[in-house]
Amino acid sequence: MNKNEFAGFDKDEYVPIMKDESMALLSKFCAENKPKRILEIGTYIGFSASVMLSACDGNLVTLEKNADNAKLAQKNLSSFGDRAKVILTDAFDYIVRQDIEKFDLIFLDGPKGQYINYLPYLKNLLNDGGLLIADNVYFHGLVRQEGAVKHKLRTIVVNLRKFLKAITTDLDFETTIFDVGDGVSVSKKRGGH
Ligand SMILES: C[S@@+](CC[C@H](N)C(=O)[O-])C[C@H]1O[C@@H](n2cnc3c(N)ncnc32)[C@H](O)[C@@H]1O
Repeated sequence: MNKNEFAGFDKDEYVPIMKDESMALLSKFCAENKPKRILEIGTYIGFSASVMLSACDGNLVTLEKNADNAKLAQKNLSSFGDRAKVILTDAFDYIVRQDIEKFDLIFLDGPKGQYINYLPYLKNLLNDGGLLIADNVYFHGLVRQEGAVKHKLRTIVVNLRKFLKAITTDLDFETTIFDVGDGVSVSKKRGGH
């Protein structure tokens, strides 16, 4: 699968698609865990969604708040038919809903400063034994770096630190943080807590 062949690949100067090595990890977890239902937060043009759909037989719901991106993703994912559903929405409005069937894998790749706020809702939307995978948890190395952080990035960095602390101390999760790409966390939800 070639990113350059995706509609809209060259539309932005900065292409916010997951790094290749992180994508390989995401693909591996999908292939090994065989999720039946996947939720993605942050579609962009649908590349990571297509990687997940190609690695397993499950269905995927992906949330995107930008209408142009959602439209391009719809086009790029059309070959997956009913297995892929792109929803144009602010992710928060969807994850707070009470009428949604749970998921076996949730891939979190939307607004980085919101991961900590999304966490309780995502935990609730995850089946026991399911995986919560989050990208960019090291955020260009700033999350692990000591010293001052530029004012405009401070909230993101502080909130990502809170997110990492939460997923590594919550007894309902068994978390591994992979030092690949921009940092990828993988948290398995334990049952019975
Ligand atoms: C890093 S990109 C996603 C990249 C994609 N997962 C991939 O690797 O191919 C993040 C996307 O999240 C979207 N986004 C940002 N805030 C959002 C929100 N509150 N709700 C839904 N989508 C959001 C952005 O418009 C952007 O397309």
